[in-house]
Amino acid sequence: MENTHLDILKPDDWHVHLREGHILSQVLPFTYDNFGSALIMPNLDKPIENISLAEDYYAEICRHIPKEIKFTPHMTLYLTNCLTQDEIKKVSNHRYIKAIKMYPRGATTNSESGISNIAEFYPLFEAMEKNKVILSIHGEVTDEKVDVFEREKVFIERVLTKIINNFPNLRIVLEHITSADAVKFIEKHKNIGATITNHHLMVNRNIMLSKGIRPDFYCAPILKTEYDRLALVQAAISGSDKFFLGTDSAPHVNGKKISACGCAGIFSSPLAVPLLIQLFEKHNSLDTIEKFMSKNGRGFYGLEQQQDRVLYVKRSRSVNTIKNIKTDAGKITVFNPYNELYWERIN
Ligand code: DOR
Ligand code: ZN
Repeated sequence: MENTHLDILKPDDWHVHLREGHILSQVLPFTYDNFGSALIMPNLDKPIENISLAEDYYAEICRHIPKEIKFTPHMTLYLTNCLTQDEIKKVSNHRYIKAIKMYPRGATTNSESGISNIAEFYPLFEAMEKNKVILSIHGEVTDEKVDVFEREKVFIERVLTKIINNFPNLRIVLEHITSADAVKFIEKHKNIGATITNHHLMVNRNIMLSKGIRPDFYCAPILKTEYDRLALVQAAISGSDKFFLGTDSAPHVNGKKISACGCAGIFSSPLAVPLLIQLFEKHNSLDTIEKFMSKNGRGFYGLEQQQDRVLYVKRSRSVNTIKNIKTDAGKITVFNPYNELYWERIN
């Protein structure tokens, strides 16, 4: 019999960009409405590179959350050489800072403060390993000699393998994995998990490039082949506790995105959950979606399971969905690669 109801623990988003100021106020409701908690990325114009900045940013986010809403922001620090071993120790006991994010310099939006020489950071990785602080990684090399579609694979071979060999007990999240190679690597190694985004599960580079260019599907790391997409789908639906949802929802106003030299980033929070339900349904895997969206991430981050539940129902006709949101600086397109979307939340 066809499943028309899905009653699951409330999902979490283990990778989201909320920005700041007015954009924050406009995008945050889609995260606190749909998710019980979210891990918030630190790549603001002025990077969140220490605890004090993370506490200010947390306070700014909390000011926009209505009292009746139960939502937990988990914060991250941006790894730079300003970070100290002492600060890492403090992070290990911090109530809501949950990871340190490593950006290779130049890999993506606001990554100018990212790292270029990995060996310089070994003392900090050692402190993280010792204090059980999670390292969250944007896994791409930025070497211009490496083809853009190969940058994750080369990062795994040249950089990640070294980190893992030197710090076997360091807990790592490889963020927004995009390839079959990445899936294999994660499955093979201990102490490493991975987030997977909606867009890498739902679209591929042909869809982005073969029938006219689709800047709304442009993101970093860039979309890969259909073969890679299917490997990611298999990982997500497998139920393996190493894979969990991180939307990487990354709002950019259309003026900056749908333009010459458009920004990388896809705003996906508003429809992320019903789109995923539809994907898992298509693969006859609604029984594992709660693991992917609500349980595995908490397990990896060592948090108790969520208490709240959400109920989605499948309508017989496509439901009206949001196409964009308006901000002071212009509209932001909402990610929805499906023509029809049937699942709707009812509680
Ligand atoms: O596409 C992306 N956009 N990937 C990232 O890693 C960062 C993000 C952003 O901040 O816009
Ligand atoms: Zn991101």
